[in-house]
Amino acid sequence: MNIVLLGAPGAGKGTQAAKLVSEYDIAHISTGDILRAAVKNMTPLGKEAKTYMDKGDLVPDYVVIGLVKERLQEKDTEKGFILDGFPRTTAQAVALTSELADLGRNIDAAIAVVVDPEVIVERLTSRRLCHACGHIGTAAITECPVCGGQMYQRDDDKPETVRNRLDVYEKSTAPLLDYYKGADLLVEVDGDRPVDTVFADIRAALAKN
Ligand code: AP5
Ligand code: MG
Repeated sequence: MNIVLLGAPGAGKGTQAAKLVSEYDIAHISTGDILRAAVKNMTPLGKEAKTYMDKGDLVPDYVVIGLVKERLQEKDTEKGFILDGFPRTTAQAVALTSELADLGRNIDAAIAVVVDPEVIVERLTSRRLCHACGHIGTAAITECPVCGGQMYQRDDDKPETVRNRLDVYEKSTAPLLDYYKGADLLVEVDGDRPVDTVFADIRAALAKN
């Protein structure tokens, strides 16, 4: 099962990806997570990416496309994968289609998690993540319920940065819904409901594939 997860910042892509990974035992490819790891390790890639991420802008296409192409060469992706946060521009979507064709693979579904922007601002400014295991939670918890690690706030979850990320999404990424609709792969799911209800809809849509 090869899945693309679309949705605005804070729509719940990471939350649903974690559930899909454990349900279908497929590889999780989050370009945001890969870039944040590079920033943390202060690699040349991380230093370049940070200037864009701190503002809530997109990292250049050639950088992200290169990362995903490399990641798709890894063995664990052969059992299936979920792309979380990629593609985000038409150029990225076209590059993905072409790379998968070269690899003799295809996308089974592009799932768009749809949530109202005002709900998103609220969600992101109160989001917290676990330093140790990456668990996604809220400001209501200070200790990770999965591993006991310390929770932290992402640098790009400040209200002004969140608003720019939402604008960037509308301008650069929302048009991809039409791209995948045209390919007859788009499934839209209402993401403004409890996590398990959203997941049940996604699972039901994938079962029809
Ligand atoms: P990235 O890490 O991909 O961030 P994003 O797309 O902005 O999305 P988020 O991770 O913020 O939100 P999410 O949808 O995963 O929501 P979550 O599940 O955490 O990208 C970060 C940056 O990296 C970009 O701005 C860009 O600079 C760069 N980048 C990454 N990919 C790139 C690419 N392809 N091209 C160029 N640049 C790229 O949930 C959010 C909160 O809501 C959590 O607190 C969660 O607990 C809560 N929540 C989730 N679901 C529900 C629900 N159903 N009900 C109530 N609360 C919920
Ligand atoms: Mg995420």
